[in-house]
Amino acid sequence: MIFGQTWLGGIVTSFLLFLLSKFHTSVSGESGMATEGEVVCVTGGSGCIGSWLVRLLLDRGYTVHATVQDLKDESETKHLESLEGAETRLRLFQIDLLDYGSIVSAVKGCAGVFHVASPNIIHQVPDPQKQLLDPAIKGTINVLTAAKEGGVTRVVVTSSMMAMTTSPNLPDDIVEAEDCWTDIEYCKQKGLWYPISKTLAEKAAWDFSKEKGLDVVVVNPGMVLGPVIPPRLNASMLLFSNLFQGSTEAPEDLFMGYVHFKDVALAHILVYENKSATGRHLCVDSVSNYSDLVAKIAELYPEYKVPRLPKDTQPGLTLGSKKLMDLGLQFIPVEQIIKEAVESLKSKGFIS
Ligand SMILES: NC(=O)c1ccc[n+]([C@@H]2O[C@H](COP(=O)([O-])OP(=O)(O)OC[C@H]3O[C@@H](n4cnc5c(N)ncnc54)[C@H](OP(=O)(O)O)[C@@H]3O)[C@@H](O)[C@H]2O)c1
Repeated sequence: MIFGQTWLGGIVTSFLLFLLSKFHTSVSGESGMATEGEVVCVTGGSGCIGSWLVRLLLDRGYTVHATVQDLKDESETKHLESLEGAETRLRLFQIDLLDYGSIVSAVKGCAGVFHVASPNIIHQVPDPQKQLLDPAIKGTINVLTAAKEGGVTRVVVTSSMMAMTTSPNLPDDIVEAEDCWTDIEYCKQKGLWYPISKTLAEKAAWDFSKEKGLDVVVVNPGMVLGPVIPPRLNASMLLFSNLFQGSTEAPEDLFMGYVHFKDVALAHILVYENKSATGRHLCVDSVSNYSDLVAKIAELYPEYKVPRLPKDTQPGLTLGSKKLMDLGLQFIPVEQIIKEAVESLKSKGFIS
């Protein structure tokens, strides 16, 4: 039976359109489809992506347990406490990803968990095992174990496009980015510990899900940019901001995808609420060379000394975020992402 050709089909179609219209209401930033009273946990709620997610979850009527690393540090808490709905529906928890007990308290009583927290450090670090790999991998296992023990129904894990495409040569016949895995050996040779941490953490999440029967779904954002809620910049916004000071720092041999903070947060909510969503989800508006993004910024802001970067060496990719678009996500285009990111940096005094 084809819906739309029968009266029942008409009712179902109208209902789906009603749901879609509610979803798009929330996309425009007004109050969206609420899941009144449902309690969810956001690990890494203090961070740039986490705080956007907390904001949109509160807007939709959820009660949120958001985790921070230091409850006494106002730069981690104040921006969350001033979000609309925070007064009555936000609880902050101090956790360390390596301290299982601290995570159990944050997850207790939650129907869902968004595991966003992970060290987002893209420059070289003296101790990659301690600074990146342990919190990413053991931290993920700790969060999933606490979720399983606490009876959580679904966990959304924030992975990265860097767990997919960090590789000197991707095969020509890739149809969907979700089929790609980062080349760990190549990353080790190059000392690219951040992509390794994200890849191994995501693999650990899939293994856990399979072995313990926990419902896990993954979002893989590209380079996330846009208006910043916390007082501190994350790694992607710092890289972006440094361009305006003439920095020529660039991730090597990499195709990058670009995406707005709000769309990353919406993608997390969408895959949480749609129980039909399964597996990995590339989350980008567009994929291109980093040098092309920088050229676009230079064109939009000729008054700044934004450098021109040499072309990257990888062959072109035409991978897109079809899975998320099929779920109804309409990505904010890259030019608007750049403009909103610049406005935010100016208003917070990071660039003049
Ligand atoms: N930004 C991007 O372009 C991008 C792209 C793809 C994926 N991601 C992923 O998105 C997630 C959020 O990153 P972000 O860009 O929002 O960076 P961010 O602002 O630096 O946020 C990282 C969050 O993780 C928390 N965290 C780090 N180590 C922790 C530990 N040992 N114990 C407890 N919490 C810890 C941080 O807490 P504090 O605030 O207390 O430090 C912070 O809340 C990460 O998983 C990152 O890998 C980011």
